[in-house]
Amino acid sequence: MKSNLYLLFFALLFIALHSCDDKTYSQGERLYLAHCGNCHMEDGKGLAKLIPPLAGSDYLKLNPDKIPCILRHGQKGEIVVNGVQYNQIMPGEQYTEIQINNMINYINTAWGNDYPVTTITATKKRLELCNQ
Ligand code: HEC
Repeated sequence: MKSNLYLLFFALLFIALHSCDDKTYSQGERLYLAHCGNCHMEDGKGLAKLIPPLAGSDYLKLNPDKIPCILRHGQKGEIVVNGVQYNQIMPGEQYTEIQINNMINYINTAWGNDYPVTTITATKKRLELCNQ
């Protein structure tokens, strides 16, 4: 009887561990593909002079304070990414702080990007300071 319980315990443990997505920032990836990939492309390379890249983007690397605000409130006007000037419109969306944080951690580590990951506390603070 006891050994059956052990068996059950290990079976449940096995199922629990394997149902966890082992991919890092998988919610961020799902959200990215659903909300950003159309424009920035699945491979993060953007689209010619219309949509700036996220893969290898110096702007993404150098402006961690601005990124949460861009995701929530959008971005328009001149912006220079990897030496190329863009002047288009990106719409914002009412994502939660957690969604924004997960998406940033995804784009900061996808496609060979090795930019620092962010915390929910930092993202929350940055969102409070948008437009100031
Ligand atoms: C409708 C197309 C569109 C969608 C959807 C979109 N973006 Fe953008 N994004 C743009 C454009 C266009 C710019 C540049 C705006 C400008 O010229 O000022 C931009 C700029 C950016 C920048 C800063 C510049 C850079 O390349 O590093 C980041 C970061 C970014 N977007 C991330 C995202 C993320 C993450 C999402 C999904 C939550 C997203 N975008 C959704 C079009 C889009």
